[in-house]
Amino acid sequence: MHEETEAVVDDKLGFIQKVINTGDYDVAVKESCTLFEMVFKKIFQQAIVSLPYKDREEILQTERKVGKGKKGVQDFTFGELVGLLRESNLLDKWSKYTAKDLGLIKTLDYSSIVNLRNRITHDGMSCSRGEANIVYEYLRNLLAVLGFADLDESINLSFKKREAVPIDSIPSTIDGENKDGKDLSINDRLPKIIKKSKYKSVYSSTYGNEGSRLQIQADNVREFDLKAFDKIIEQSKDKTNLLGLDLGCASGDITIDRFGKYDQFEHVIGIDINPTKINEAKEKNSNKNRFSFYEMDIESEQFEGNMQDILSSIGNRKFDVIFSALTIHHLSNPLKALFKLRKLLNKGGFLILRGSDDGTKFAFPDEQNLVQSLVYLTSDVQGVSDRQNGRKMYYQMWRSGFRNIELKYSIKDTSGLTMEDRHALFQESFAYRINYFEKQLNSDPQNKRYQEEYQWVLDALEELELEFLNESFFYAETDFIAIGRK
Ligand SMILES: C[S@@+](CC[C@H](N)C(=O)[O-])C[C@H]1O[C@@H](n2cnc3c(N)ncnc32)[C@H](O)[C@@H]1O
Repeated sequence: MHEETEAVVDDKLGFIQKVINTGDYDVAVKESCTLFEMVFKKIFQQAIVSLPYKDREEILQTERKVGKGKKGVQDFTFGELVGLLRESNLLDKWSKYTAKDLGLIKTLDYSSIVNLRNRITHDGMSCSRGEANIVYEYLRNLLAVLGFADLDESINLSFKKREAVPIDSIPSTIDGENKDGKDLSINDRLPKIIKKSKYKSVYSSTYGNEGSRLQIQADNVREFDLKAFDKIIEQSKDKTNLLGLDLGCASGDITIDRFGKYDQFEHVIGIDINPTKINEAKEKNSNKNRFSFYEMDIESEQFEGNMQDILSSIGNRKFDVIFSALTIHHLSNPLKALFKLRKLLNKGGFLILRGSDDGTKFAFPDEQNLVQSLVYLTSDVQGVSDRQNGRKMYYQMWRSGFRNIELKYSIKDTSGLTMEDRHALFQESFAYRINYFEKQLNSDPQNKRYQEEYQWVLDALEELELEFLNESFFYAETDFIAIGRK
C-alpha cells in the first residue's frame, strides 16, 4: 500500500511537471487538485486516530457538518475537503499537538485553488502558466512538509507527539564542528535536554478571588488534614517541643489552624514566596509567638542559607514536621525542593504533603462534557501548575529519600450538600481556572487561540456553575495526602 501510494505520487508529480512544460496548464491544475484531495483525506484519517479526544470530536463534528450528515470525508469534493480543513482548524490542531512547525502549509490559501479548479472544470475557463505553477508549488510544499518519501508513513510520523531526540542521532563529533568543518549548534552536538521540571506555574495567591477560594478549600479539607496530623503526633509520642514548617503557607490560616491545635509544637515557621500573603500572616498573628512567617522561595539559590540563618537563631534546630498543602505542584522542580526539605528534617521527622489531581474529577450528568473539557483545556494552558500532582506524590517522596510513605485519600462530592456548599465546591475546583486563561490572553491579547480559549472557558464555567446548583447533578473529586518519614 505504501509503495503503491508513493508510486502514484511520484507518477503524478512527474506527469504534472510534464504537462506544465507542454503548456497543458488546466490539466496540471486538475491533476494537482486530485493529489491534494488524496493527501487531505489521508491527513484527515491520521488526525482522527492520533489527535487528542476533544480535537478528534471537533474534526468529526465538522465532517458531519460539511457533509450535511449524508456523506463522509471519502466522498468529499475538493472544495468540501478544504472547507473541512479550514473549519475544523485541523492544521492548527496538528501543529499544536506535535509542536511541529508546519511552515507555509498552514497559511496557504487553498480556497483560491478550489476556485481556480472550479473555473476550469465547470466554467470552461483556462488558467495561465503562472497559476498552474503556483498550484504545483503549493502541492510540493505540502508534500515536502509531510516528508513525502513514503506518504503514508510520513503522514503517520507527522502526527507523532514531540519526543526526545534518539540517542543514535547525536553526532559523534562534539568538538563544535562537523565533518565539513561547519560550526554545529549546541543542539546538533549534545542531546536535547527534555526538561521534566516544566510546571513552574504563574499561580499567585493574591490574584483575583484566590484568597477566598483558598479559605473555602481550607475548610473543606480540615478534617482530612487533622487525620494526618493526629497520626504523626501519635507517633511522636513523648515529644513536647516539636518544631514545624509550613511550606506555601499563604496568609498562615491553615498554619495556625492545623499546627495550632497541638500543644506539642513549640514553634512553627510558615514560609511563602508571596510577600503580600506573608505580610498578612505577620499582621494577623503578631500576638501569637509560637508562629513566625517569612517570605521565601524554596526554589531560590539563597533558600538554604536564609533558612539556616533562621534555624541558627532558634538554637540550630531541625524540623520535626514539615507540612505543605497544594504547593509543590507549582514548583518547576518538585524533587529538588523535596530534597531540600528532607535535609531540613531531623532523622525520623515527618513530611506531610497534600495535593490534588485533575484525573479524579468527574460528574454526571454532564451532557456537554464540561468537566472533562475544562480539565483537558486547563492541562495545557500557559503557566499552569501540574494538574496531575496527586498521582505523583508517592514517587516524588520516594525519589527524594522519604520512606514509610503512607497515602490517604478523601473524596468530596456534591451529594447531600447545601446549595452554598455545592457552589463553594464549584468555586474551589473550577472557577479559578479562568485566571490562567486570562493571564495567557494578557500575555498576547491579539492571539486568536488565546481569545477563543478564554471565551470558551468563560462560557463553560457559566454553564458548569448552573450545573453545580442543580441538586441532582453529581460531582466528585479526591484529595491526596502523603506522609513520609526521613
Ligand atoms: C495553592 S496555594 C496553597 C496555600 C495554602 N497552603 C493552602 O493550602 O491554602 C500555594 C501557595 O504556594 C506558594 N508558593 C508557590 N511557589 C512557591 C515557592 N517557590 N516557594 C514558596 N512558596 C511558594 C504560593 O505563593 C501560594 O501561597
